[in-house]
Amino acid sequence: MEQRSFDRLGRHVGIIGLGAWQLGADWGEVSEDAALAVLAAAVDAGVTFLDTADVYGDGRSEALIGRFLRSRPGHGLTVATKMGRRVEQTPEAYTLDNFRAWTDRSRANLGVDTLDLVQLHCPPTAVFADDRVFDALDTLVAEGRVAGYGVSVETCDQALTAIARPGVASVQIILNAVRHKPLEQVLPAAAAAGVGIIARVPLASGLLSGRYDENTTFPANDHRTFNRHGESFDVGETFSGVDYDSGLAAVRRLAPLVGDDRTMAQFALRWILDQPGVTVVIPGARSPEQARRNAEAAGQPALTEVELAAVRATYDELIRPQVHDRW
Ligand SMILES: NC(=O)c1ccc[n+]([C@@H]2O[C@H](COP(=O)([O-])OP(=O)(O)OC[C@H]3O[C@@H](n4cnc5c(N)ncnc54)[C@H](OP(=O)(O)O)[C@@H]3O)[C@@H](O)[C@H]2O)c1
Repeated sequence: MEQRSFDRLGRHVGIIGLGAWQLGADWGEVSEDAALAVLAAAVDAGVTFLDTADVYGDGRSEALIGRFLRSRPGHGLTVATKMGRRVEQTPEAYTLDNFRAWTDRSRANLGVDTLDLVQLHCPPTAVFADDRVFDALDTLVAEGRVAGYGVSVETCDQALTAIARPGVASVQIILNAVRHKPLEQVLPAAAAAGVGIIARVPLASGLLSGRYDENTTFPANDHRTFNRHGESFDVGETFSGVDYDSGLAAVRRLAPLVGDDRTMAQFALRWILDQPGVTVVIPGARSPEQARRNAEAAGQPALTEVELAAVRATYDELIRPQVHDRW
């Protein structure tokens, strides 16, 4: 698989990673055996970057990854986790003492002395402007608890503030065929600064797989049911903040472009990989087959000019008015 670099971590990773929120909770039931099978399928297909968080299943996702790592000595994987969302979201929670406690828990869950990458998990905006927070993160590096740190963000403004911080190794942001705003400033700024970009929610929570229609339902314990209007967390994390019917309309417009050589999901992943400045794309997968298919996108040809123009026009006409100024 093609490798790209996190310059500030001194690490290369395969361009398709695996998002491991699904292996924790909030996506219906995923058994332990199924979760371990997804990890194995992804890694066997060439994935070397895993994204998790301390809050996914309250540590279940991290613990399952820890089990998987122990079963693959010498694995060479890079595991990024996140911290900060197991407590009430106030800027005052982002202290060195809490960071030490949170990273100690993640180190235990993952079974490692040093976390490869820890990301602040969409913190309140005030956190981005607080020098003490970034001094504390530098201390975690100096203490050897983490090899590097980054920030997962909701908005482009937050991303730009984070990129300007000299110690930030990565920014994780929503980027997909129905979320284009990061292309304008965030990706060029990250590339210029040597900050890695981790593109999340690449399939708009599965909408861009092209498999859903007006009759599709999701389990009660799936955020695509319980967070459709942002009831539990930022609505941008569910279907990328696009209202479901508009998302279906966009997918139906793009579907005829997808040739026989790839699936709609692979088309959507390839679109992201072709955007300059992207380091790694982290589709979530609920089955080994999905994980394998997603990894395949790394070896597929780039989209043609006609395809790129169609994605742009679809976004401009159907999606931009709803989302472009929100995040
Ligand atoms: N705040 C944050 O930092 C934050 C927020 C959100 C996500 N993330 C990270 O980003 C990762 C990815 O985002 P996401 O999981 O929310 O959304 P996503 O990757 O856009 O969508 C994942 C869903 O798409 C469907 N899918 C995946 N591969 C497929 C394939 N090959 N063919 C057809 N359908 C496929 C599956 O749903 P079905 O099987 O149900 O159709 C899967 O659960 C997460 O796992 C997490 O690591 C971070």
